[in-house]
Amino acid sequence: MSTTYKALKVLFGALLMLGVTQAQAATILKLSHNHTRDHAVHKSMQEMAKEVKKETHGEVVIRIYPDAQLGSQRESMELMQNGALDMVKSNAAELEAFGAAYSVFNLPYLFRDKAHLFKVEEGEVGSEILASTADSGFVGLAYYDAGARSMYANKPISSPDDLKGMKIRVQPSPSAIAMVKALGGNPTPLAYGELYTALQQGVVDAAENNIPSFSLSRHSEIAKYFSLDEHAMVPDVLVVSTKTLAKLTPEQQEILFKAARNSTELMKELWDASERQERIAAEKSGVTFVEVNKEPFIKAVQPMYDDIKASSPELYSFVERIKAVK
Ligand code: GCU
Repeated sequence: MSTTYKALKVLFGALLMLGVTQAQAATILKLSHNHTRDHAVHKSMQEMAKEVKKETHGEVVIRIYPDAQLGSQRESMELMQNGALDMVKSNAAELEAFGAAYSVFNLPYLFRDKAHLFKVEEGEVGSEILASTADSGFVGLAYYDAGARSMYANKPISSPDDLKGMKIRVQPSPSAIAMVKALGGNPTPLAYGELYTALQQGVVDAAENNIPSFSLSRHSEIAKYFSLDEHAMVPDVLVVSTKTLAKLTPEQQEILFKAARNSTELMKELWDASERQERIAAEKSGVTFVEVNKEPFIKAVQPMYDDIKASSPELYSFVERIKAVK
């Protein structure tokens, strides 16, 4: 056997081995989000990851990085767009900067109740919005129940008048900013991770969120009144990079979509339990939950709809389609 032949044989064998190893190596998908491991959304996505691993026989593995350890929601979106991350669990408010259609979920008092919201999410409008950002390099996989958001501060907020002169933390979302202005407060956009300190140091006087986020982020240690004005039901949204999707086979994509849908259903159950549990936890730590007459709030935000009608017919047509969903 000539030396060249031997060398070729070794090289060929090595290439074959490499091929085998590559075939066996799992595709790792990195997913970032900003909640703790105790949050229902983390648990729901863990179930999704388990299902994907099982159904793809270990070929696709989702690694979840909680607690904003890879960055805030905004930073994570940017990392995903640069190819450093595959998936991000954000929410419709934060996604507004990346896909204008998401803003409809942030409009105050648009949805009649949770059943209406779920019907929209699971119908045509919901799917169109998830698909609307493909040109920006990502698409939505799932909506996650995140209850209703209400105001919290160190005093009850029983009417928009109580917000006058107050600095209210909002998410970096134009709709949230417009809403607080319409209600008479001063909106202060901040990342979620900066809010605890901002409340503690008086950089802001109030914030708004759902009950589990209020309690699990320990904002309840500082703000002792949670006023149930329930101004918006802003869903969390799981998105995936289109480059990542293209790396998966059609079967693996199907498995991922299905597991995401299943985790949406699981989240609905976990959410209700978490809302009850975290309300009790907050009450134990001295928080008062205040029942609120929503009428003056609803009235105060109506000009927002006139503005959208005048400035963005495309968005307004989504609003009309949402209202028409029975
Ligand atoms: C909710 C939501 C988060 C979001 C947060 C916020 O907790 O689930 O995705 O970051 O609100 O107010 O920033």
